[in-house]
Amino acid sequence: MKVGFVGWRGMVGSVLMQRMQEEQDFKHIPESVFFTTSNVGGTAPDFGQTEKTLQDANDIEALAKMDIIVTCQGGDYTKAVFEPLRTTGWDGYWIDAASSLRMKDDAIIILDPVNRDVIDAGLQNGVKNYIGGNCTVSLMLMALGGLFQNDLVEWASSMTYQAASGAGAKNMRELISGMGAIENEVAAELADPASAILEIDRKVSDFLRSDAYPKDNFGVPLAGSLIPWIDADLGNGQSKEEWKGGVETNKILGNSDNPTVIDGLCVRVGAMRCHSQAITLKLKKDLPIEEIEALLASANDWVKVVPNEKQASIEELTPAKVTGTLSVPVGRIRKMGMGGEYISAFTVGDQLLWGAAEPLRRMLRIVLG
Ligand code: HSE
Repeated sequence: MKVGFVGWRGMVGSVLMQRMQEEQDFKHIPESVFFTTSNVGGTAPDFGQTEKTLQDANDIEALAKMDIIVTCQGGDYTKAVFEPLRTTGWDGYWIDAASSLRMKDDAIIILDPVNRDVIDAGLQNGVKNYIGGNCTVSLMLMALGGLFQNDLVEWASSMTYQAASGAGAKNMRELISGMGAIENEVAAELADPASAILEIDRKVSDFLRSDAYPKDNFGVPLAGSLIPWIDADLGNGQSKEEWKGGVETNKILGNSDNPTVIDGLCVRVGAMRCHSQAITLKLKKDLPIEEIEALLASANDWVKVVPNEKQASIEELTPAKVTGTLSVPVGRIRKMGMGGEYISAFTVGDQLLWGAAEPLRRMLRIVLG
């Protein structure tokens, strides 16, 4: 088995490499080959593999020598390379973090703690394309798998609070620059306990609206504000991110023929790499809260039910707590005023781990056997 890695140096790729080292995945790979789009012939990172030289990620012949290709290079790369590679008759496994191939009939969206059955059926039926899901979708299903996998959800509405990392590394930097620039603007007033808060607020507001605020990447301020639209405008009032919530969830669950309605609004907030979501669910049954919590808690090894109490919620259910970990807490679970079948939930997850790199890492291990 030769495994080719593309896009291993970017943000998602780096998280993938880090996780693969932590889990000693390279020991299970007979031969790793590292590809590059910018440094052909350069030195590959040393994970103990034989091939020490970086290969050309646009060289179809070189790619075709691989049994498995794992790419975090992004959608444009997939669009440029995937079809020409398959056209040569290449029959290897393509494991991809980008969205380009997700909704294709010959691709499976991978989230094995939730859809191992769908993945196994795909492997048996000769499916060769395994694509990581949208981050909010994967994180919602890691948190609420216990309800979705037991076919208990009539519909769900997810209102998201998405981190800067989902938009890219530059956007994360821009968020911090915005925070720093705001503080800088009013540092003197902040240092003076007698200064007037409304004067500080006016200066901050003026700065948020000024050209001096750093916003080349987001286009509008994120620090000190929020952005109520993520990804493309589909022209029907829905953002592409919101559309993905419905179609990808159902595809992951293998329900595309009889989909559950999932819809909501996706919003960017000033968190670094953890996406949060407030979810309203209508269940098919009026189940006791304890039963719901037990179903959620037992769905996989990473979900953690947080008691619906103030202290536990503000300590456990936040990006600050979850960032950099595989834990997916879900809390604020209660019956809503609309009736016994209506449940609220709030969940947080690291967008670069379960939202991106981890499902790919695990899929590679599944294919390697
Ligand atoms: N589209 C997501 C976001 C990240 O912008 O947060 C990738 O799934």
